[in-house]
Amino acid sequence: MSFAEKLVAWQRRQGRHDLPWQGTRDPYRIWLSEVMLQQTQVATVIPYYERFLKKYPSVEFLASASQEEVLQLWSGLGYYARGRNLHAAAKEIARNGFPKDIAKLPGVGRSTAAAIAVFAFGERAAIMDGNAKRVLARVFGVPDPDWDLAERELPQKDVAVYTQALMDLGATVCTRRPDCARCPVQRGCVARRKDRVAELPAPRVRKVLPLRHATWSILKRNDQILLERRPSSGIWGGLWCFPEAAKPGGRKLPPIEHGFTHFRLKIQPVLREVRKRIPAGPAQRWMRLADVASAAVPTPVRRLISSLR
Ligand code: ADE
Repeated sequence: MSFAEKLVAWQRRQGRHDLPWQGTRDPYRIWLSEVMLQQTQVATVIPYYERFLKKYPSVEFLASASQEEVLQLWSGLGYYARGRNLHAAAKEIARNGFPKDIAKLPGVGRSTAAAIAVFAFGERAAIMDGNAKRVLARVFGVPDPDWDLAERELPQKDVAVYTQALMDLGATVCTRRPDCARCPVQRGCVARRKDRVAELPAPRVRKVLPLRHATWSILKRNDQILLERRPSSGIWGGLWCFPEAAKPGGRKLPPIEHGFTHFRLKIQPVLREVRKRIPAGPAQRWMRLADVASAAVPTPVRRLISSLR
């Protein structure tokens, strides 16, 4: 049996069959799930996926929601650009349907586009997400598998089952510390034969990212804090954060570091408790600590706030 045939047979017997986005060919549901699953584990995605579908049962509902509401529902999933792109893509899809070239949608790269094409439209296309890459690298003994390899291994039929198998094998068996005894392709696996499992795939060369600094001014009055909505472009666009200040007065809290794709951010929070009302400036709002949990705030703000409560 070929690599693909073994994967397909394994998927039918041992793969996952009851994920909430399986058993449908509705492109909206499949697109939504694939975008949420970028860099995010299945267990994390499931409750978000269900909340989104409940609130936005079709792409038209999502398209006509406000960005603020979408980001609020997204909050906690991280990588907020995905949430903004999702909303922009929904408007595009609601107006013109799914484009022929799915990768033209905001937030949809080549691999996500392939997954949608396969699962929703029954097309024959190769994926190359982190899971697929790890499986291919090990089985074929190549440090950095390319699209050509992914396409060569695509079967002629059962492409959807094969694609799900690559995802499931990578997520459940061929993990960072793989369980080779449960693997359907253990016998042909180059990494295993040559004892190179630990070194494949080759780790991406991590550049040392530049470090930036920010100071956050946390104004707290009783059970309320002052938040400011960030401009819609740039980091955390459209999300509620603490106002930045050069030299705010108050008590320094332990600094936190947050990693972005292109830089690291070291944040110095400074807490000042006030007795009197301070009027909120433009794009600012006093929020109750208890209400922030359901607001569109990024992870470091969420963490700081739970430490204040
Ligand atoms: N990761 C990306 N897409 C996925 C899918 N459809 N099922 C499970 N994990 C995935």
